[in-house]
Amino acid sequence: MEWILLTSVLHTAMLAVLARAPVETLGIEGYPVFLKPKVPPGFHVRDTIWRFLTPIEELVAISFQGTPQIQYQSRFYGRSQLHTNFTLEIRPVSLGDSGTFSVLLVNTTGEMEKQTFHLAVYGTVLRKKRDVTDAVSMPTIRVFSEESNPNRSAGSCELFLACAATRGTNLTYSWAGTGVKKLSGGNHSAFENGQVLRTKLDLSEDMPASYTCTVANAVSQKSATITVWEQCQRELGL
Ligand SMILES: *[C@@H]1O[C@H](CO)[C@@H](O)[C@H](O)[C@H]1NC(C)=O
Ligand SMILES: *[C@@H]1O[C@H](CO)[C@@H](O)[C@H](O)[C@H]1NC(C)=O
Ligand SMILES: *[C@@H]1O[C@H](CO)[C@@H](O)[C@H](O)[C@H]1NC(C)=O
Ligand SMILES: *[C@@H]1O[C@H](CO)[C@@H](O)[C@H](O)[C@H]1NC(C)=O
Ligand SMILES: *[C@@H]1O[C@H](CO)[C@@H](O)[C@H](O)[C@H]1NC(C)=O
Repeated sequence: MEWILLTSVLHTAMLAVLARAPVETLGIEGYPVFLKPKVPPGFHVRDTIWRFLTPIEELVAISFQGTPQIQYQSRFYGRSQLHTNFTLEIRPVSLGDSGTFSVLLVNTTGEMEKQTFHLAVYGTVLRKKRDVTDAVSMPTIRVFSEESNPNRSAGSCELFLACAATRGTNLTYSWAGTGVKKLSGGNHSAFENGQVLRTKLDLSEDMPASYTCTVANAVSQKSATITVWEQCQRELGL
């Protein structure tokens, strides 16, 4: 009887966990990254437990009852900090840090809130030049929401688009947009050698917008296109 009760409680807890989608987070090699849990209204956090789940689960940092953070001997040891607002900071982030994190928040009445984060880290170091130029593979574009900014102007949507080809040497990246005002100007900026595009869209004029990333080298060229609309609706909580 107790066992049945326990499994049903676990089942309910798992459903609650599954319901919350992972937060996609972008990191740039060599820079800090902040993983910020969302605390539900009225949820008074007592304990915070951060884990890294890939390839094997390891504890990163914990804090119990507001005591100072305890850091574990994980791959992040010496590079991570658990802030009093439950945010985990990794400084600097490295390419091998890409993977899934989870945070378990426990409140003062023992209720739990679990959230997961997918961290994708992009490199800044140009690959060593090689004599042979490999053909480019089909690039993929991933979309990341800008961390919520309270000062964001209403009716706009800020995103990062990261373009990556898994194969190819000496690559150059370029972007084109349709349905958006020209890619130059204050609302678009490219960085990481053009691999990442930061964009600020005007929801009344620019939607739906599509972006094409072209990856090229001396022997080949490939493009991929993505339409952003859903991401902005999510941004606005529509
Ligand atoms: C603890 O969490 C539960 C479930 O989210 C919530 O109903 C309750 O109000 C919370 N209590 C405190 C003291 O945070
Ligand atoms: C938590 O604190 C860190 C360091 O002070 C800060 O960078 C971060 O923005 C804060 N997070 C939230 C959600 O306020
Ligand atoms: C928002 O604007 C205020 C006042 O201009 C500024 O102090 C604050 O740093 C800004 N916050 C962000 C996240 O840009
Ligand atoms: C790399 O690309 C640049 C510009 O596209 C070109 O000038 C250079 O010769 C290329 N290097 C190699 C090793 O292919
Ligand atoms: C940038 O976006 C803002 C609001 O979304 C808009 O008012 C402004 O005209 C845009 N600027 C350019 C150069 O496209």
